[in-house]
Amino acid sequence: MTNKYQIVALPGEGIGEEVVPASLTILQRLAERQSFSLRIDYGLIGQPALKKLGAYFPEETAQLCQGKDGILFGAVTKGGLLELRQRFDFFANLRPVKVCPSLINKSSLKQEKAVGIDILFVRELVSGIYFGASGRTQDDTSGYHTMTYGDRDIKRIAKIALVKAQQRRGLLTVTHKENALPQIPWTRLVQEEARNFPDVTVTGMLVDNLAMQLVINPQQFDVIVAGNLFGDILSDLGGALVGSIGLLGSASLNSAGFGMYEAIHGTAPAIAGKGIAKPLGTLASIIMMLEQWGEIEAAQSLNQAQAKILERGYRTADLNPQNPEILVNTEQLVELFLQELS
Ligand code: IPM
Ligand code: MN
Repeated sequence: MTNKYQIVALPGEGIGEEVVPASLTILQRLAERQSFSLRIDYGLIGQPALKKLGAYFPEETAQLCQGKDGILFGAVTKGGLLELRQRFDFFANLRPVKVCPSLINKSSLKQEKAVGIDILFVRELVSGIYFGASGRTQDDTSGYHTMTYGDRDIKRIAKIALVKAQQRRGLLTVTHKENALPQIPWTRLVQEEARNFPDVTVTGMLVDNLAMQLVINPQQFDVIVAGNLFGDILSDLGGALVGSIGLLGSASLNSAGFGMYEAIHGTAPAIAGKGIAKPLGTLASIIMMLEQWGEIEAAQSLNQAQAKILERGYRTADLNPQNPEILVNTEQLVELFLQELS
């Protein structure tokens, strides 16, 4: 019996409109090779949705996503994304940061510091300061956003991070700022949850120190769990560690295992519309989607195809190719994947 998957593609804006269709061309080829089938529906989010349907995240789009096997998301400048995350309670955001051997010279760190970096950021995605009470005072002279965390919200993301740590090297670092924000005791709450995971070592680390440690000694980290805002900031730092934020993908899952998959990069207006963006962040997200579906062989072959293409020296412009590396645009990169998967 062949597996059939239904996905919704939400390219959004900027390079999202280029990298999502490009990656889906590759995924289609992979599906043919691996004998599973795909149905892809395109939906609107962000500026294009506002223009055509009058809202950043229209109800039509929400309905389209309902009951599907996954959402492939591109990028938006503002509007739509937080609503989408909240609508489906995508609380668990997984952002793997793993250095690719053939791109080690693109890391912002010296090679000996970058070698072997393999970190999984587990970011809480539907609570914290992004969703706390906010507003401006009546006289319009100041504004506020509040960071609120339910103990339950911390414990449920802790559990995801603990399970992941258990499947990896058994180390979990808890990001916090308890010296200034003591009412949100991340470390204690994660430690309580960790009683059910005796094989995982839990260490609390202040977020400022953690940011420094990520640069000084990133190899010490395995899984890092963080609240919404800190996780956002630290995962960009992860991009610099491996060479480009454009390489990183993510999965955002709810408790039923339904998820949306998106590159960590934004709309990249400086390169949008030129056909030069690389779909590797979206492909990294597709690999996570395939793993989530249990299509492990397909995930591996996409991974291998990517490794081979990079090993042979093909680079998009943002990776700043140096002789003898070969500059390719989006279309050429897709073609290389199609050849590799044929
Ligand atoms: C991300 C982005 C978003 C976030 C923005 C676009 C709201 O930076 O997914 O990392 O902060 O969550
Ligand atoms: Mn971000």
